[in-house]
Amino acid sequence: MKIPDYINHLTAYKPGKPIEETQREYGLKQVYKLASNENPLGPSPLVQKALASAVANQHLYPDPSQYELLKAGAQFWNIKSENISFGNGTDEIIDFLVRIFCRSQDQILFPQYSFQAYEVTAGACQVECVRAPLKNGWDFDLEKTIETFEKNRAKTKIVFIANPNNPTGTYMNATTMRAFLDYFREQKDVLVVFDEAYFEFTRAKDYESALSYLKTTDNLVVLRTFSKIFGMAGLRLGAMLAGTDIIQAYNKMRKPFNVSGLAQAAGIAAMKDQAFIKQTQQVTWAGLDYFYKELSRLKIDYIPSEGNFVLLDTKTDANQVFEKLLRKGIILRPVKNYGLPQHLRLSVGLEIENQAAIKALAEVLVHG
Ligand SMILES: Cc1ncc(COP(=O)(O)O)c(C=O)c1O
Repeated sequence: MKIPDYINHLTAYKPGKPIEETQREYGLKQVYKLASNENPLGPSPLVQKALASAVANQHLYPDPSQYELLKAGAQFWNIKSENISFGNGTDEIIDFLVRIFCRSQDQILFPQYSFQAYEVTAGACQVECVRAPLKNGWDFDLEKTIETFEKNRAKTKIVFIANPNNPTGTYMNATTMRAFLDYFREQKDVLVVFDEAYFEFTRAKDYESALSYLKTTDNLVVLRTFSKIFGMAGLRLGAMLAGTDIIQAYNKMRKPFNVSGLAQAAGIAAMKDQAFIKQTQQVTWAGLDYFYKELSRLKIDYIPSEGNFVLLDTKTDANQVFEKLLRKGIILRPVKNYGLPQHLRLSVGLEIENQAAIKALAEVLVHG
């Protein structure tokens, strides 16, 4: 069977290296994975309880209307349930948005070094990716983004903004976001997606979610995930918040049972557990502050982050550093596929994991 060239040319999304694989390959008992921006606390106790009681019903198909989950979401985000839909992770929603709004040879636009899923999805649909330049190395550049858009106006169908951004951890501040929305609100046939997977980890005073602009911006979608703050990456649950016409278009495209019964039960419980959200924030912020202090002491450059991870500069071939760290039982994330061959991304873990990662980085980068 001949596989079409546009599929053969795709580069598959490269996830973090699994713990078990690293244990097998390197003959290690103890391996810490700080590579996928997961929640080191696991899912909340309320979620675990909800999962246990939902197990007995798993011979039944899940609720295709996601009724209870929508109700919980409406309360949690303080919007109407008709402005919400859920997906098998935000990954799935991103995929459908591209398939709904783009046709072959169309373009999507995003800032340089954005989340790789946008590119992977676009490739499968023969949609071209256009990257807007940054300023001062890592910062979102509004003028350049608009300039890039205007050059490609006829072809650009979606603008993706991960805010905060993965893998850099940088963010678009509230003033810039408002100016950005003021401009793009008028571009009626272009969809604007604010991917706020890391929203709950932000500490910057001038960060603002795009959520409050849904009412005034017809062409806006806000994405939230349950994989990070809620510790449910394995269950696959993501949300999209948007105007009813966009939600209805997505609901026509998604499969009726795209969100499993377990994910629905877990999502409802997760949104009720404010204490767990606070606990995760505390653990994340303490971990980040520890990383900043230790990386500064070791003179390893890093970008201050609004996510649950930090991007550090190895000043050398990061893949080699990654390999050496693996041998010490530490899995970080190389980001060469983002065009950053000297950087590694380090997720916040438990205290013991963070300390082990810093110790290994010191051995490899400073004393090695
Ligand atoms: C910016 C961004 N968006 C979306 C996702 C995907 O989340 P999900 O697990 O909901 O598919 C990630 C995961 O790392 C991410 O970094």
